[in-house]
Amino acid sequence: VANENDVWVFGYGSLIWKADFPYHERRPAYIHGWTRRFWQGSHDHRGTPESPGRVVTLIREPGAVCHGMAYRISAETLGPLDVREKNGYLREVTPLHFTDGEQAEGLVYIATDANPAFLGAASYDAMARHIADSHGPSGPNSDYLLNLADALRAMGVEDVHVFTLAETLEARIADDPRPV
Ligand code: BEZ
Repeated sequence: VANENDVWVFGYGSLIWKADFPYHERRPAYIHGWTRRFWQGSHDHRGTPESPGRVVTLIREPGAVCHGMAYRISAETLGPLDVREKNGYLREVTPLHFTDGEQAEGLVYIATDANPAFLGAASYDAMARHIADSHGPSGPNSDYLLNLADALRAMGVEDVHVFTLAETLEARIADDPRPV
């Protein structure tokens, strides 16, 4: 890290494709022991308090690897990020592995099953239906899922959970075109 006040933040959801904060450097990275799941409710970004959307969180899974994007930011940028990442997410420190073999410590935002917005597992069909029907101040929940799937594909990351959910959603939209 060039400046000792800089910190790495690991993004595995919207931070992969939407970095609306200043950063010094952006590098593909992965973390061990966590898997990405659409198991967290969103009442502030991709849904509303009455009708929360579904977004990603990380679930502990020994042996799993989660690929994402790491950002090197100034410590002052963390405050605004913490505010943006509310809705049940807590900050954890994790070892980060860059795809070129280097390592660093990084921060990651995780929403555990102990937070009130946690939704947990459901069938792909139920999750796709839920996402197709949800909208929030940041836009349609379906954009969040499809943008994430596109970004992972562009990075060459294989993510069965995200890709299966995106395919289920796209099949649903094709079957049932409705104005949004
Ligand atoms: C992420 O992309 O890593 C993320 C975004 C919002 C909340 C938590 C994590």
